[in-house]
Formats: sequence, C-alpha cells, structure tokens
Amino acid sequence: MRLSRRDALRLGLAAGGGLLLPAGLAACNPNGGGGANVGTQGSAGRLLHSQVPLPAPFRVPLPVPPVLRPRRSDATGDHYRITQQAAKVEVLPGMRTEVWGYNGIFPGPTIESRRGRRTVVTHHNRLDLPVVVHLHGGKTPAEHDGYPTDLIAPVGGWTGGHSTHGMHQGSKEYVYPVDQPAATLWYHDHRMDFTGPQVYMGLAGFHLVRDDEEERLGLPHGERDLPLMICDRAFAADGSFDYPAVDPTLRDTPGTRGDFISGVLGDCILVNGAPWPVLEVTNTRYRFRILNASNARRYRLALDPRPGRGSSFVQVGGDQGLLEQPVAHDRIKIAQAERFDVVVDFSQYTVGDQVTLTNERGRGGTAKIMQFVVARSGSDDSRIPPRLVSLRRLQPSDATVRRDLVFARGGAQAHGMTLWTINGEPFDPNRIDADPTLGAVERWRVRAQNVEHPIHIHLAPFQVASIGGNDPGPYNQGWKDTVNLDNGDYAELLVHFDGFKGKYVFHCHNLEHEDMAMMGNLQVV
Ligand code: C2O
Ligand code: CU
Ligand code: CU
Repeated sequence: MRLSRRDALRLGLAAGGGLLLPAGLAACNPNGGGGANVGTQGSAGRLLHSQVPLPAPFRVPLPVPPVLRPRRSDATGDHYRITQQAAKVEVLPGMRTEVWGYNGIFPGPTIESRRGRRTVVTHHNRLDLPVVVHLHGGKTPAEHDGYPTDLIAPVGGWTGGHSTHGMHQGSKEYVYPVDQPAATLWYHDHRMDFTGPQVYMGLAGFHLVRDDEEERLGLPHGERDLPLMICDRAFAADGSFDYPAVDPTLRDTPGTRGDFISGVLGDCILVNGAPWPVLEVTNTRYRFRILNASNARRYRLALDPRPGRGSSFVQVGGDQGLLEQPVAHDRIKIAQAERFDVVVDFSQYTVGDQVTLTNERGRGGTAKIMQFVVARSGSDDSRIPPRLVSLRRLQPSDATVRRDLVFARGGAQAHGMTLWTINGEPFDPNRIDADPTLGAVERWRVRAQNVEHPIHIHLAPFQVASIGGNDPGPYNQGWKDTVNLDNGDYAELLVHFDGFKGKYVFHCHNLEHEDMAMMGNLQVV
C-alpha cells in the first residue's frame, strides 16, 4: 500500500535529474524579491510577477462558494460526491484561467457537517494527475486522512511518476466521523511532492462543522456568516495560473525553479477566487471565517479606516473552533492554513462608507485584500456573548513526553538543492519521527530557523503554551492545528493525541517547504 523507501526517494529526493539547482543559488536573489533567507513582504519566498495587467481592485463582487448538497442522507450521516476536474473560469475579467477544482470550481464547494453526523465524501479524480484529499483540522481515521502517498489515480489511468500499484483507481470514499466541535476546517490536495502546485491550481475548499452549542450563542448567521479564503496567485501571459515548477506537467519531477524553493508569492490577491473583490454589507455584524490558503504568503490584516470606536475584529474562533471568550483585535496576523473566525461590526460605520480589508505586510496590490461597502442599514438580532464555550485548558504537567523539533533548511541535499528538513531529516514515508500513545498529551517544542515556518500537525489539536518562552500572545488562543512561527522563534505546544491510532504527518504549511521535504510522520500507538 505504502511506497517503498526507494519509490519515495525517487519521487521526492532524487528526482530524476530534473532538479538542477546550482548549490547556493537559492541563497542569493539578484532582483530583490527576497532570497531564501530573506522574507518578501514578511513572507519567505520570492515574488512572481504576472505577465498580464491585473484588474483595478474592488470591482468584482465577492463570490461565495456554494454549499454542497448531500446525494443521500440517513440516520447517521450524509453522503456527498465530488468530481475533481479542470475547468476554464473567469478569474480576471475577460480572461480564461484553467483551474483544477473540486466539481470544477475554485474554491471548491463548501461542505457543512453537523457535529456527530458522519460525513462521507466520494472523490472522483477526472484530472490527469494523482490526487489525495486531506481534511485540514479534521479528527479523522488514518486511512481517510489523506496521507501524502495514499493517492487516487486518475479515472483515465496514470503512466507517470510511479506505478499505480497501491493507488485507489479513479475514486476514493473518505469517511469523516466529525466527532469534534463546531469549527472552520478546509480540505485540500496533499499529493506528496506536488501539494504546492496542485493547491495553487485550485484544489481547496471549506468544510464547516456546526453544532448546537455554537448555534445557541446567537452569532451572525445565514448571509452574514461568510467564509473568506484568501490566497495570492500570479498569472501567465495566457491568463493561466503561473507556477514555477521544474516540470510544468507535474508528472515526475517535483520542485520549483530557482529560489522559489523558499515559497511562491503571487502579485494578485484572490478572495474566494476573485481578485480584490467587493462585498456590499448592511450596517450590522458579520461573521467572517478567514482562511489563509496561500502557499507561502503571510498577512497582517487590518481595516481601513478603522472604526471610530470599538475594535476592527472580534475573534470568536480559531483553527479548531470557538474560543472561551471573544478577543478584540485591530490587526490579525495570519499564516498559511490558519483560520480566524471573526465578527466585524459595520454598525461602527456610516451607511455609504467604504472599508478596505488591508494587508499591512503587502506593497502595492498585495497591500489590499478586498473592500466592504456599507450599502444599507439593516436590523440585527445577533450578539457576541462574553463567554462562548468552555475549553479544557492543558497544563505542561499533563504532558508525558517531550519532543524537540527544529524546522530548518539543510541537513539533506538533492541534486545540489538544499532541502527543508525537520531535525535535519527530509521526509521519508517509512521513518516514524514521533510515536505518541493514543490519548496522551505531549509537549512539543517546535523551532523555526532560516525563515518563518507555519507548523501543522494532523489529527491532534494543540494549545500553544508559550512562544519564545513568553505568553503565546493574542493570535494563539484556543485549540489550534497550525502555529505561526517567525524565524528564530520557538513554541511550546501541548498536543492532545486523541481519536485514532495510525500513521499521520506533521509538516510546515509553506507548501514549497512541505513539498521539498519539510514533513515528518507521527504514529499514534
Ligand atoms: Cu493543510 Cu497536511 O495539511
Ligand atoms: Cu492537516
Ligand atoms: Cu517552512
């Protein structure tokens, strides 16, 4: 079922002679886009410039991904079907862009689950490449978690990469127990070595979990509860998404060209797949579930103008669900894969106001995200209770095992390319890096070196006990699954290995780092 080590090495680390980066190239970037060790606009990576003129901001309406209807429901659960396929869509006005989408759309349809009701999603792969689906943040049995080599071969067959031996042929049924609290989760591709380009082509969507406890709170709902998927892209001259892959066919040879190994940054900001969109709102509260689905870009979000009184954002939830109490922010730092579930109160503005969601880390186009136009007054029966949910607070003394993990560049080479590693080791599907006991709490000290790294653990949610030995700060409240670490920083995570035994991954969620080996295995025993 799993790849042999030899297959893995051929796929990931000794990729068929294609990765001919001169050693050291990645460390110096002549055009000031940020070398491997220097962030561009606050993010590791290099900026890729679009070859087409980008549209003026705040012209297209914000799209909202459709909620997927189950094909069948029974007493215990809901059954869905998704076809992964290519489609040409209008991302830039007047141009056609090929996306690889769940049901051919980007973002994919939103799946809504009710806590405790099993959700079964059958994915059909009508793309030309193998895929894997991971429910990010899901408490999922290992065989349904989307392990990076647990591939679905294309319906039409597959001759590239490695043999289809062990792949699911054409489709796979993913079963999610959804035994977890209300939260903003997302699903995305996880094909080993090619996650970066395949997500970039559009393979990402929301998966919301709802429950009674959340509904009792009276937070904004319906049309005033909207997911916002933020990501950056660059466009080639023909309007296609431009990704600097060594092998643009993504068949055999992984990796990015040149110093894009540190991350691919685009110059066009998309929200729910549209460039710098605009949303008309009433002067009431809205709940926005903000996801940073970018490969490499981090953001610092703010509102311009700020409300005259009160704060810009009231955070009610994080990666893994609701917080104990709301947290007010005037800016939000969000790394790749993190979610911030916030309420914005537009009654703090006047009808007619235009409020821009900005990125304080960007420059030019990347300093803007989208705009809200307070178009009308409206009535509002929503509220933000001072207490949201009660959470079990973990203590360091709950931890039985401590592990130290250093996320850095180096320790392994492939074809002159210095890989991203964890404790000096590149990803190997057959090496177990951590073997927690089911039910245990462990203390993981994770450290980021060379550049910043957003660190994500599958299956097991965690609480951030400290960052750099200090209080974890305003952005690490509640249960999380991804922690944003600046270069040189370290965090103490209290990780709860609950749910299932089996083999899962943990990795950096800079997708270029992940593809270039910054991933490890945990085996819950
Ligand atoms: Cu968002 Cu391993 O993934
Ligand atoms: Cu995940
Ligand atoms: Cu990283």
